Amino acid sequence: MPWDDLSAQRFPAFDKELDGISKQTMEDHFKLYEGYAKKTNECRKRLNDFDYAQIEGNQVFSDLRAVSVDYTFALLGFKNHETYFGHLGGAGGEPTGRFAELMEEEYKGGLANWSQAVRKATSAARGWVMVGYDLNDGSIFNYIMDSQNLWAVYNMVPVLAIDVYEHAYARDFGASADGRKQYVEAFFRNVDWEHVNRQLMQAEGARQGAAQAGLEPKREQAGAR
Ligand SMILES: [Fe+2]
Repeated sequence: MPWDDLSAQRFPAFDKELDGISKQTMEDHFKLYEGYAKKTNECRKRLNDFDYAQIEGNQVFSDLRAVSVDYTFALLGFKNHETYFGHLGGAGGEPTGRFAELMEEEYKGGLANWSQAVRKATSAARGWVMVGYDLNDGSIFNYIMDSQNLWAVYNMVPVLAIDVYEHAYARDFGASADGRKQYVEAFFRNVDWEHVNRQLMQAEGARQGAAQAGLEPKREQAGAR
């Protein structure tokens, strides 16, 4: 299978002085992200080495099940952190560009309402808040994820990833609900909206390209058989 080994990248955010998020937090966080790359590679190797003619498939416990399930935890741990570190190190402030335009259209109450909604989502999530663009219908939504592999949906392209696990903020702000709120404000002071907009426009471009190429799935009329 064409599985290249993944490796952690030193994103520009690691060399910048972030506002409120310390170097030590970033370095510790890098090690965690490195660990996800390592475990993804290990799972891929195991999945490639299994003898599928002989291996047990068992829904209670089996090596195949354990490695396949934990593979998604490792791989999404890697992917989510790529998005997170990739868009840190910016000037922060209010959202700009296409992201701001879409939110203005999507949320009743516009961008101001989205700003409140996403902050509430960071208090309601146990692991991540992922703002994602849906390639099927072009909608955008704040997904609450209790761990990195629960609960996003298919064909959602993450454009803004907020890590709300305690490791992201406990050192700098304290492991409390209030500490998390302060950290989320610090996150928004450091986010690079241009990066977010590039991700979003890539996703919109992919959707438009599929439509132009006639690759959108055909939907039957309601009631038609
Ligand atoms: Fe993290």
